[in-house]
Amino acid sequence: MLDISVCVSGGGTNLQAIIDAIAAGRITDTRIVSVVSNNPGAYALTRARDAGIKTAVIKPSSYPDRAAFNEALTRYFIDLAPGLIVMAGFMVQAPEALITAFKGRIINIHPALIPSFCGRGYYGLRVHEAALSRGVKVTGATVHYASAGLDEGPIIAQKAVDVLPGDTPESLQHRVMEQAEWVILPQAIDDIAHGRVVFTDSGSDVT
Ligand code: GRF
Repeated sequence: MLDISVCVSGGGTNLQAIIDAIAAGRITDTRIVSVVSNNPGAYALTRARDAGIKTAVIKPSSYPDRAAFNEALTRYFIDLAPGLIVMAGFMVQAPEALITAFKGRIINIHPALIPSFCGRGYYGLRVHEAALSRGVKVTGATVHYASAGLDEGPIIAQKAVDVLPGDTPESLQHRVMEQAEWVILPQAIDDIAHGRVVFTDSGSDVT
């Protein structure tokens, strides 16, 4: 059984996709042991409570500085000891100590085809605004292992999504979520749970 902890900051549609995939048997041998947020107002926390999942809020303003917040976040996961940490719309860069303690056991979803539109400043709607202003015809989503560099860890899965004439950042964001994120994130978790994806330093091994 793979115990996962899901980190969220906002609406939690990716969390919902994971909850639904477990309920539907598309993810097996896996359970969500907690949902963690840096934002007490995140609707994702309501989704978690509605599904009977334990929640925790660890917010920067409760700590004297960023280092203390990072330490609290890292301590939380070391104490919980999940098999996998899933960053599903988590607007916090994973602290280095956390990456070290959970090497190869933290994954993240990014709403673009890495290495396009990723790294500092590319989050939320900004990713889709950038894709539209560059005029790309195809975008998508990426599931990857977290590493010290933002959006730089080994890639586990990607799915392309067409950009359509008349798209707005909002319409594109929704299509990327529906066609890519909500598909590849649950699939990646099931692949990890069953050893079809294995972390290696040079990249993920997919069999
Ligand atoms: C998603 O687009 C995710 O890729 C990005 O933030 C968004 C979160 O959406 N990192 P939700 O909270 O899962 O609805």
